[in-house]
Amino acid sequence: MRKLVYFIASTLDGFIAGPDGTDPSGPGGFWTPSEDYLQHLIAEYPETLPGLARAALGVTAEGRHFDTVVEGRNSYEVGLAAGVTNAYDHLRHLVFSRTLTESPDPGVELVADDPVATVRELKRTDGKDIWLVGGGELAGALYGEIDRVIVKLSPLTIGTGIPLFGRTAAFAPNAWGLVDHTVLASGAAFFTYDRGAGTP
Ligand SMILES: NC(=O)c1ccc[n+]([C@@H]2O[C@H](COP(=O)([O-])OP(=O)(O)OC[C@H]3O[C@@H](n4cnc5c(N)ncnc54)[C@H](OP(=O)(O)O)[C@@H]3O)[C@@H](O)[C@H]2O)c1
Repeated sequence: MRKLVYFIASTLDGFIAGPDGTDPSGPGGFWTPSEDYLQHLIAEYPETLPGLARAALGVTAEGRHFDTVVEGRNSYEVGLAAGVTNAYDHLRHLVFSRTLTESPDPGVELVADDPVATVRELKRTDGKDIWLVGGGELAGALYGEIDRVIVKLSPLTIGTGIPLFGRTAAFAPNAWGLVDHTVLASGAAFFTYDRGAGTP
């Protein structure tokens, strides 16, 4: 069955964005990805690069991992504010929102239904894994459905911001097992954990 994979960039102190919710690696952001981090992304996860970045870097690879991306409305609006109506037009792109009524892009499916039910339905269909891009609030709502977490760790602390599972997630300890890792010379690292594959 397809997995729901939370593939997410995080600081050492567990934040996916600053307190103001702007894109950490976007223009004026607090994190400039290192060259080795970018090269690893391009080599291993080319489908997770936004369409504009793929075009700029000449990346055309389909990618091995994901054919579908699910996103919370706040994260989607970061791109929208920059004039990008569909950052992932090379994937099936679902945006969860109970307030947006009309999709700004024919390639973006707005979903007002419960994310858990929607993801369970997606998992029952054939395909590659489903990428949960973020943000924290949606990840908190989908906490129990996440099968794999791939943390793209930046060697950075910021003190406060939007946590990995948002600001309102319930206290629910869960053990994860390390199944893959890549530590880069820059100090950035990729850690892949599967639900239940470890010991508490
Ligand atoms: N580090 C990374 O790799 C990474 C990746 C992605 C995003 N981000 C950052 O994450 C930040 C945004 O995260 P966030 O936690 O503020 O928000 P978010 O999870 O992106 O979006 C929250 C919105 O999603 C919708 N939603 C959430 N739970 C829902 C549910 N149960 N049912 C239906 N809709 C639901 C709601 O939209 P409505 O209010 O419209 O109902 C909610 O307001 C941005 O700063 C972005 O840059 C970082």
